[in-house]
Amino acid sequence: MSNAAKNITKYFTEIVLTDVDKLMPIELACHSHPWSEKTFLSCIGGRYFGEFVQVTEQDLSADHAIGFYIGEYVIGEATLMDICVVPTEQGKGYGKVLLNQFLAQAKKLGTTKVFLEVRAKNIAAQMLYMNAGFIEIDRRTGYYPSSSGFGYEDAIVMSLKC
Ligand SMILES: CC(C)(COP(=O)(O)OP(=O)(O)OC[C@H]1O[C@@H](n2cnc3c(N)ncnc32)[C@H](O)[C@@H]1OP(=O)(O)O)[C@@H](O)C(=O)NCCC(=O)NCCS
Repeated sequence: MSNAAKNITKYFTEIVLTDVDKLMPIELACHSHPWSEKTFLSCIGGRYFGEFVQVTEQDLSADHAIGFYIGEYVIGEATLMDICVVPTEQGKGYGKVLLNQFLAQAKKLGTTKVFLEVRAKNIAAQMLYMNAGFIEIDRRTGYYPSSSGFGYEDAIVMSLKC
């Protein structure tokens, strides 16, 4: 983790419907094909669980959200639906912090197996997951519209036993 990330206080807050306004800009900045606001709203509450991470910088009075995760829990299995760190804060360790928080919350709910899907070209995310112990279990050919705007991209399905 960088010194910049160490010098700030960070804390997690459960995502509720009214948080979508502040989290949509992060979603839009992070994905070539982001969730719509309607999809985001549909992934809050019920079988879904999520938190955003806020930072308080020493020289700033206001807290600001820099990333979030959304998970889904169904009968002992959890799926990582989304995880995002605002581009200006990427590479400072927050993705790892968010993934660990997702895994901790999933375990608290009773999860024994975690699943996720990731774009084949999203190496940063794959490295994050592999370093946490996820392994590739399947590949879905042409699952995503390509981030370049032409054609399609495979999805890699990964899983982790808790
Ligand atoms: C994926 C994402 C959440 C990672 O967040 P981050 O804060 O940048 O990640 P971290 O700084 O915590 O890095 C954690 C690990 O991820 C991997 N990683 C991060 N950025 C990387 C890069 N550019 N290249 C290769 N590996 C990278 C490394 O394994 C790193 O561990 P290390 O520093 O010990 O080597 C972030 O890049 C993001 O929001 N991307 C856009 C949204 C997205 O793709 N979400 C995943 C959808 S499946």
